[in-house]
Amino acid sequence: MKLSSALLAYLAASAASSLAQSINIGAPAEWTAVTQGRNLTVRVDKPLTMGNSVEVGIAIGLHPCGDNPCAANPDVANFIDPLLYVGPYDPQYREVGLQPYQNFTVTIPEYFPGLSQELSLNVAHFELVSAALQPFVEVKNITLRLVA
Ligand SMILES: *[C@@H]1O[C@H](CO)[C@@H](O)[C@H](O)[C@H]1NC(C)=O
Ligand SMILES: *[C@@H]1O[C@H](CO)[C@@H](O)[C@H](O)[C@H]1NC(C)=O
Ligand SMILES: *[C@@H]1O[C@H](CO)[C@@H](O)[C@H](O)[C@H]1NC(C)=O
Repeated sequence: MKLSSALLAYLAASAASSLAQSINIGAPAEWTAVTQGRNLTVRVDKPLTMGNSVEVGIAIGLHPCGDNPCAANPDVANFIDPLLYVGPYDPQYREVGLQPYQNFTVTIPEYFPGLSQELSLNVAHFELVSAALQPFVEVKNITLRLVA
């Protein structure tokens, strides 16, 4: 089968749109101090794009890095335990100057051995993109500081 130039253009556009439809963790800021038992607002931003996308859902969780800096672990984003939220993601345009977003209030669990340590905040995102609704999965992460 010979690929038509229209199909090639379509494939290029859909590859670009899938890249462009990534989320960002808008809040908290990197290195925010968090405490066990306290609530934390996680703002998940979804930049506006031309491309088609259908949200499936997100999962928000932590990975405790223990005695090591989170940045020393190349797999830090691959663990979502404790799980703080799993379910629908519905970013909405709310404020001038901000991308569409949804806030999630999560509770830092009373789970850790009480040690001060770095935590990786990991947000996994699943959507269907392009006219063909191709599955697209990504994980975004920032580092937080757990303080006793
Ligand atoms: C923390 O979040 C939970 C769930 O949204 C809520 O029920 C609770 O009132 C919040 N607690 C505080 C101290 O804000
Ligand atoms: C995010 O996770 C990657 C590994 O997937 C890691 O290399 C990077 O340092 C992490 N970034 C932050 C800010 O924690
Ligand atoms: C969402 O959370 C951010 C960060 O805490 C806050 O600045 C913003 O006002 C919140 N938006 C809404 C609609 O609650």
